[in-house]
Amino acid sequence: MNIMNKSFSINAAVNIPAIGFGTYLITKDDVAAAVRSAIGVGYRHMDTAAVYDNEAGVGEGIRAGIKDNGLSRDDIFVTTKLWPGASEWGETAKTEVQTLAECEMSLKRLGLDYVDLYLIHSPHGGSQRVNQWRALVKLKQAGKVRSIGVSNFTEAHIEEIRAAGLPMPEANQIELHPWSQKPQLIAYMKQHGIAPIAYSSLAPLSTWRTGQDSAKPEDLKAGDNFFAVLAAKYGVTEAQLLLRWGIQNGYAVLPKSLNPVRMRQNLELDGFAIDDADMEAIIKMDRGGGIAWSMGDPTKVI
Ligand SMILES: NC(=O)c1ccc[n+]([C@@H]2O[C@H](COP(=O)([O-])OP(=O)(O)OC[C@H]3O[C@@H](n4cnc5c(N)ncnc54)[C@H](OP(=O)(O)O)[C@@H]3O)[C@@H](O)[C@H]2O)c1
Repeated sequence: MNIMNKSFSINAAVNIPAIGFGTYLITKDDVAAAVRSAIGVGYRHMDTAAVYDNEAGVGEGIRAGIKDNGLSRDDIFVTTKLWPGASEWGETAKTEVQTLAECEMSLKRLGLDYVDLYLIHSPHGGSQRVNQWRALVKLKQAGKVRSIGVSNFTEAHIEEIRAAGLPMPEANQIELHPWSQKPQLIAYMKQHGIAPIAYSSLAPLSTWRTGQDSAKPEDLKAGDNFFAVLAAKYGVTEAQLLLRWGIQNGYAVLPKSLNPVRMRQNLELDGFAIDDADMEAIIKMDRGGGIAWSMGDPTKVI
């Protein structure tokens, strides 16, 4: 099957494309053109967030991409995220009512009537976390969002929702790549029918986020040439190998690139499959916690 047409189920009515376009760290000046190009080369999922401060440009790029390519709104899957408010950073957590209003503001900035997936961006909402989730359940009932989920939530955070007797999240967007495989969290999500969505799939690359504020520290750049050797064996790039690993595990992936060659390359994941022995070998590359966002102790509720 052509991976560009492949998708994973989020709920009975909603499928998420296997490959999406990430927009974190793409500025509001660059993002409309980037999203338009991404749709032009075949991306059908755009991932943004209120805190990325680029939703208006993402919406502009979607409208242009739809027009250029004779598409309709429902051909594009759009994810955005509630910034929950983090007391750790001097912010106040959003209440249920504020969460409902935040979603309306995101829709307005995007210029859309609905999004396909709305996520609570992180568990930083503390005592408001369950109230924020209550708001997402209402937003889905009201048809403002087609599916709802969380991001960076651990088992303990999700258990709070279960204990409150609320519908469970349909997806959890987390940092997932061979260096951070989170087997316990993935098993828990599988048990509860929560779709994994992988972010920062390319984090093991030595050049990951080069030139950006959050580039990797030197000690994480060093390493063996495990992925380079494996990529050469399959005749693909390391980035393609890492993305294919995610999809073979059943994770939707969200590569971000502003480089036209890499933007296309990240969609070209057909024509090879990582064999079982190599998938087994990759399991041994797990280093535990993530790089992009440390999730800390999975049993600890922030
Ligand atoms: N929910 C969350 O908390 C959360 C956190 C992080 C990310 N995300 C989402 O996930 C998306 C992806 O994660 P990410 O942006 O952290 O990282 P990523 O997509 O894993 O990696 C992006 C980096 O890799 C480079 N790159 C892209 N394609 C490449 C290729 N084929 N070969 C070599 N280098 C390549 C990019 O540079 P160039 O642009 O120069 O190509 C950039 O430096 C984000 O954009 C965002 O939408 C969500």
